[in-house]
Amino acid sequence: VVMKEVFNTRSMEEELQAKLGVKEVHVVPGDSDQFPWVKKEMGRTCVNVIKRNLAMQGNIIAVTGGTTIAAVAEMLVPDSDLKESLFVPARGGLGEQVENQANTICATMARKAMGTYRLLHVPDQVSKDAYESLVLEPSIQSILKLIHSATMVIHGIGEAQTMADRRDTEEDVLAKLKEKEAVAEAFGYYFNKSGEIVHKVPTIGLHLNDLESINTIIAVAGGASKAEAIQAYLIKSPSQVLITDEGAAKEILAKL
Ligand code: F6P
Repeated sequence: VVMKEVFNTRSMEEELQAKLGVKEVHVVPGDSDQFPWVKKEMGRTCVNVIKRNLAMQGNIIAVTGGTTIAAVAEMLVPDSDLKESLFVPARGGLGEQVENQANTICATMARKAMGTYRLLHVPDQVSKDAYESLVLEPSIQSILKLIHSATMVIHGIGEAQTMADRRDTEEDVLAKLKEKEAVAEAFGYYFNKSGEIVHKVPTIGLHLNDLESINTIIAVAGGASKAEAIQAYLIKSPSQVLITDEGAAKEILAKL
């Protein structure tokens, strides 16, 4: 039985890799929509992938928010390589609860890995004027510089409607997301099923085009309910690693 499980997961990984056109895929058994421990398993796998991709020195690891990346943080353990790493949030406030905010996750990761961290303090929804003056603040400039020199990014992917609801999105934006048929969300960007950007939450930090120059990009997202979102986001994203679960993997493959 165990051999069969191993085999099935591996063949799913290979098939997903080819069909989604990503560099590397890891599928953990189970469906995180049904069992919370599956998120921890994705977290454990992610920790291994992080360690394998660390450079000898100068690692700057940018992380996003969400419950999945929070599970990655929970699974981190001290490690001599990770100790030298600097953890930073990938983007400013995106309307998450404190425990699921990138800042919190980044601090947890640094504590668990015995590394260091820097935080990005920006309000959740910034007006254009506030944004323009905020980015000129020297303290914000210095952390933004670090974020833009990230060597690795670890991010979540969410289902558009779920994320819009979770963030108490304004009515006009909700209407826009519906009209433009948004299905996925990552880094504060909403995407339609062809992977095109249909809306962007105004906040500072890493922007999608910044990802092109980053060596290691790891997406961690699972659960059958996220299948469409994962697939949509990956259509136009740069080559990267996907860590997912059997629930999402089966659903994606059934539709491809
Ligand atoms: O809000 C931060 C974020 O990383 C989003 O970009 C993403 O859609 C979401 O969290 C994923 O959240 P979860 O892991 O809880 O599904």
